[in-house]
Amino acid sequence: MDLEVDIITTPKGFHCNLCNTNVPNKPSLDEHVKGRKHRTLSTVRATRRAQEERSVFVSGFPKDASQAQLTQYFQQFGPVAEVIIDKDKGVYAIVQFSEVDSQLTALSQLVHDMGGMRLRVKPREKKGFKLVDKKNTGVKNQEEFLERLKPALGQAETVNEQMQCVVERLQLAENKRKARELLVQLIQEVFTEFFPESQVLPFGSSVNTFGIHSCDLDLFLDLENTKTFQARAKTSTEPVAETSSDDGRSEDSILSDIDLSTASPAELLELVATILRKCVPGVHKVQAVTSARLPVVKFHYRALDLHGDISINNRLAVRNTRFLQLCSGLDARLRPLVYTIRYWARQKELAGNVGGPGPLLNNYALTLLVIFFLQNTDPPVLPTVDQLKHMACEEEECVIEGWDCTFPSQPIAVPPSKNQQDLCKCLGSSGLLAAFFSFYATFDFAGNVISLREGRALPVTSFLSQARKVPQEEEEKNAMEEEQPRKPHNQQAPKLGSLNVLDPFELSHNVAGNLSERSQHSFQRECQEAEKYCRSLQYLRKSTKGKPWGLVRLFAPHGQGPKKLDGSVEMSISIPFKPALLPEVLRNQLQLAGDGFRLIWFQKVCAAMVQVFQNVLKCRLGSFTESAPSGDAGHAAVAPGSCESMETSSEELNTSSDSGIAGPGSPQSAAAAAAGSKRRLSSSEDGDASSSPQDKKPRLGSGPKPGTPCWTWTQTHAVWAGRRKVRRELIKDAADTRPEGSNMALEVQVTDHIVEKEPPVKVPLVFKVQAKLVGNTQSTKVLLKVHPPSEGKEHFRDFFHFLEVFLPKMVDTLMEKGV
Ligand code: UTP
Repeated sequence: MDLEVDIITTPKGFHCNLCNTNVPNKPSLDEHVKGRKHRTLSTVRATRRAQEERSVFVSGFPKDASQAQLTQYFQQFGPVAEVIIDKDKGVYAIVQFSEVDSQLTALSQLVHDMGGMRLRVKPREKKGFKLVDKKNTGVKNQEEFLERLKPALGQAETVNEQMQCVVERLQLAENKRKARELLVQLIQEVFTEFFPESQVLPFGSSVNTFGIHSCDLDLFLDLENTKTFQARAKTSTEPVAETSSDDGRSEDSILSDIDLSTASPAELLELVATILRKCVPGVHKVQAVTSARLPVVKFHYRALDLHGDISINNRLAVRNTRFLQLCSGLDARLRPLVYTIRYWARQKELAGNVGGPGPLLNNYALTLLVIFFLQNTDPPVLPTVDQLKHMACEEEECVIEGWDCTFPSQPIAVPPSKNQQDLCKCLGSSGLLAAFFSFYATFDFAGNVISLREGRALPVTSFLSQARKVPQEEEEKNAMEEEQPRKPHNQQAPKLGSLNVLDPFELSHNVAGNLSERSQHSFQRECQEAEKYCRSLQYLRKSTKGKPWGLVRLFAPHGQGPKKLDGSVEMSISIPFKPALLPEVLRNQLQLAGDGFRLIWFQKVCAAMVQVFQNVLKCRLGSFTESAPSGDAGHAAVAPGSCESMETSSEELNTSSDSGIAGPGSPQSAAAAAAGSKRRLSSSEDGDASSSPQDKKPRLGSGPKPGTPCWTWTQTHAVWAGRRKVRRELIKDAADTRPEGSNMALEVQVTDHIVEKEPPVKVPLVFKVQAKLVGNTQSTKVLLKVHPPSEGKEHFRDFFHFLEVFLPKMVDTLMEKGV
C-alpha cells in the first residue's frame, strides 16, 4: 500500500518519495525497497503513525501547567505514555496514550475542564513523513544568497567593483572572526588541562584570509610539547600523577592513562572526542572520524552554529595556511580573484564537496590553481615557492616532516610585482579574471602536473616512472586500514589523476587527487564558457536597461540559465569501459592490440550505438561526419568535405582491417550507409578542450587516437513515452523481469509497437550525436555529446533523459552479446 504511494515512475526510472532516491529500473527498485535505508525509514514512519493515532493535540491550558497535571487529567481516558509541552510556540501539548481506544474516548468527550480551565482537544495532525534533503537545502540557500547579492552587484559600476562587493559580502565578518578566536581560546584552555603544553592552532579558511561566513573551523591539536612533557615526567623519580609542569600546573590523570608516544591516532582522537564532549560547554555532535585519510574529530558549536574539525597530525596544513596568508599580503588582487573564482566554482558545482570528501575540487586546490595562474602571468603577479624560499632569512627556515616549508614570514621581504594588470580592464584588455579562465580553458591537464614550487607545469611523463595509479578498491581498503598518520617522504610519488596540482610543500601530495574525470572535464568546460562570456559586452559593460551583466551572469547556477552563450544546454552521455562485460574473443583482441585497445573498443561502442539508434529506436540516419584526432597534424591535413580521415587513421594505426573492426555496424560502415554530404567538423565547431594545441603534448595512456565521429539522426515518434507499459504488455509472463535495455529483440518490438500505434511527433526531432574517446587506461570511456534539435527542444529533453539511461545499458547488452 505504502509502496504504491512511495514509488513513482519518472522518465529516468523510479523515484522513492520516502527516501528521496532515484533508481533506474525495476531490479534496482526491488533492491532499494529491500535495502536498509528504505526499511528503516518505513519502520520509523510506521512508529510515528502509530504514535499519531494514539495522541491528541491539546491547547487552552495555562502557561504554568505541568506535564504531571496534564497526565493526571488525561489518565481518566486511559494510560498516558507521554506528554510533550511546547511553550515556545504558544501553549500546546501533545498527549500520547498507550492505546488507540483512549484517544477515541478523549476525543468523544465534548467538554474538557481541567481545574476550571476549558481545554481544546483535537486529533493530532497527521504530517507527511519525508527525509529532509540536506543537499537541496544547501542549494536553496545558495540561490537565496545569489538573489541577495544580485542587487548589490547591479549597483556597482565596473566588474572590479563587483569583485570587491563579492569579497565584502562573502568574507568572514570581523565579529565572527573574533568569536571564533574566543572559541579557540576556550578549547585551548580545556585541552591544556588535560594535555599540558599542547597547542590548539587554527588553519584553513577561518584564518587564511579567504574565509567565508559559513566556513568551518579547522583546528590542529599539537601534542608535540605534551609528549616531551610526558616523557620528562616518566623519567622523573616522582610518580606521574604527582608531577607538575614548569608553571606549576598539576598533570591531569589522563596522561597517566595514555602514553602519547605509542598511542594510535585513533585512540588519541577518541580521547579528544571525549574531552570535547564532556568538558567544552556548547559543543555537541562530537564524532571521531578515524577511517578518513586524515582522521579528525568533528563537532558543532551551537552558539555560533559553527562546524569544526580537530586533527592531531596536520602541522603542514598550519604552514600552508601561513603561505596563503603571505600570498594574500603580497598582492591585493589575489583576494578578490579567489573569492570570485570560489563563488563561481561553487555556483557551477565544481568545488566545495558537501559533507566531506567528494569528487569535486576542494577550496584549497582551487586557491592553489589561482596562485599558479598568477605565477604564470607576464610578468608574474606572484613569485614561485622556490623563489620565496630564497627570499627568506635564516630564522624563517622551516622543515616539516622532511618537506622544505621555508618562506618569508612578512610580505615586505618580497619585492612587489611588476605586473600592473587590472582584475577586469576595459574593452581590448581581458583583465586577470578573464585571463584565469582563458589560462585553464586550454590547459593540458592530461599532459601536465601543476607545480607551484617551480611555478610551471611539469610534464606528466616525468612522474610516470614513479607513479602508480591506485585502483579504487585498493584505495578504499587503504583508507580503511590507514591507522597510522600520513608519513610523507620525499621518495613517494604523487597519486596522479585527471587534474594534478602538487602541494607547494608536500610534493608527494596531489591536492586534486580526489577529482573525478567528470569534474575535471566540467572545470575545463566551464572555464571555456566563462572565457567566452568574458569577451562579451554583457560582461564588460554595465547594462543601461538593468539587465544582468558582469559577474551576475557569470554566477548563473549550474544547470540553470543558458550554459552557453548561444543559449543551448549541453547534453552528454557517458559509456564507461567495462572489460568484464565483454565476450572473451573481444577481450583477447583488445589485449593483443596493446595501447591500441582503446581505439578498437571505441569503434565497437560506436557501432553498437549506431545499432541502438538505427535498429532499436528506429531513428533515421541523416549524415555522418568525422573529425580527425585532435593534435594530429597528419589528419588535420585531410580536406574538409572528405570522410577519409577515419579510414586513414585506422589504416595508419594498423588496427582496422586485420582486427576486423570496419565490419558492418562500425562508424565507417555507418558513414558509408549515410547518404548525404560528409563534412569534417572544424575544431571550433568541435569546441572541445582536447582540441587545443596543448594536446600535442604527451598524454597518459596515449596510443592511437580516434577522431570524433558525429551522426545526425531524425526521430519521428515518441519512442521513449510509455515504453515500460508496452514492454510489460509484450512480455506477458509476470515472472519475467528483464530490465529495460537487456534484450535487443524485445526493445525492437517495443519501438515497433509504439511507432505503429502512436501518432508521430509534431515536429521530427533532428539531433546530432558526437562521440569522443576520453580517459586513460583505467577510466576509458566514450563521451557522447548530444546536440539538441533547433525545433522541439522541450520534447527532446524527455527523449534525452530516456537515452541517458537506456543507451549505455543497451550498448552494454550489445557489446556483451558480441553484436
Ligand atoms: P579546504 O579545502 O577545506 O579549504 O582545506 P578551506 O580554505 O578551509 O575552505 P572551506 O573550509 O571549504 O571553506 C582546509 C585546509 O586544509 C589544508 C589546507 O591548509 C587548507 O587551507 N589542506 C586541504 C591541505 O593541507 N591539503 C589538502 O589537500 C587539502
